[in-house]
Amino acid sequence: MDGAEFLSAQREKIDRFLDTTLPPPDNTLHEAMRYSLFAGGKRLRPGLAIAAHEAVEGTSPDIIRVASTLELIHTYSLIHDDLPAMDDDDYRRGKPSSHKAFGEAIAILTGDALLTLAFEIASQSRALANDNSEKTSLHIINELAKGSGSFGMVGGQAIDIESEGITIDAKQLEHIHKHKTGKLFCAAVRIGALMGGATAVQLDLLTRYSENIGLAFQINDDILNVVGARTELGKAINSDAARGKPTYPVFFGVDSSRNQVEELTKQAIQYLEPFGLPANSLRAIATFQLSRTS
Ligand code: IPE
Ligand code: IPE
Ligand code: MG
Ligand code: MG
Repeated sequence: MDGAEFLSAQREKIDRFLDTTLPPPDNTLHEAMRYSLFAGGKRLRPGLAIAAHEAVEGTSPDIIRVASTLELIHTYSLIHDDLPAMDDDDYRRGKPSSHKAFGEAIAILTGDALLTLAFEIASQSRALANDNSEKTSLHIINELAKGSGSFGMVGGQAIDIESEGITIDAKQLEHIHKHKTGKLFCAAVRIGALMGGATAVQLDLLTRYSENIGLAFQINDDILNVVGARTELGKAINSDAARGKPTYPVFFGVDSSRNQVEELTKQAIQYLEPFGLPANSLRAIATFQLSRTS
């Protein structure tokens, strides 16, 4: 199975779970939650969690539940990221952004509600992992919180916003990308692995895999903002330059940025060596993100 096939198979399971778990669209807030969540999206973070779980031969019945929470957090982050006070993007996942469709106040609250729902859903099962231990469940929920918070995704977004229009160095740019995008990738992989009973050595290798893929993915996001097609991406292009965002193409040019994506992906795949065949889905995702156009 290639990466696109793997992700689309997982997407069906994730979307079925989310559709039955989300509140029905009985008011504006609930409608707005479904609007952004089901607008599209590659479901890459849930896919990573499921693939990491496979890599350690996990069998937790709650893997889809927990993988879905990563998509709730990711979708909330996109809604807030597009707000006029942040990246001010009117178009997301091929549709008007949440604030364009529902107004700013509802968009903010929709993000809040999706973030909160993620933790509600994650805490609904007593034992999330293979080992049936409540301690491991708490560890998993803690990883979700840390990956999303001020030392994780949100921390990266804050520096990203503060860096608009000013000069930063390449190390600082890498720090932004490793946090705003990389930390949720890390959380996804680590959570899937922890649910499957990963050893400390396995967790360490998979963390390195996720750090490389996370950075590669965001460099590609920067590249696609320059060379991508709006209709394929489902979001605006050239918006980074318009906002004076520091990006990899600005720093290194498109070709060198592409080389870095390739190198990071190659390294990521090397960390999977000891896992053998069960890591095939993680390999497929790595290869998929390398040549993605959306
Ligand atoms: C976009 O993420 C924002 C980044 C962190 C780069 P994705 O490219 O995974 O967006 P969707 O979920 O497919 O819409
Ligand atoms: C992605 O940031 C990080 C998030 C947490 C949303 P970007 O601002 O670079 O992502 P796009 O390009 O708008 O999807
Ligand atoms: Mg942003
Ligand atoms: Mg943005």
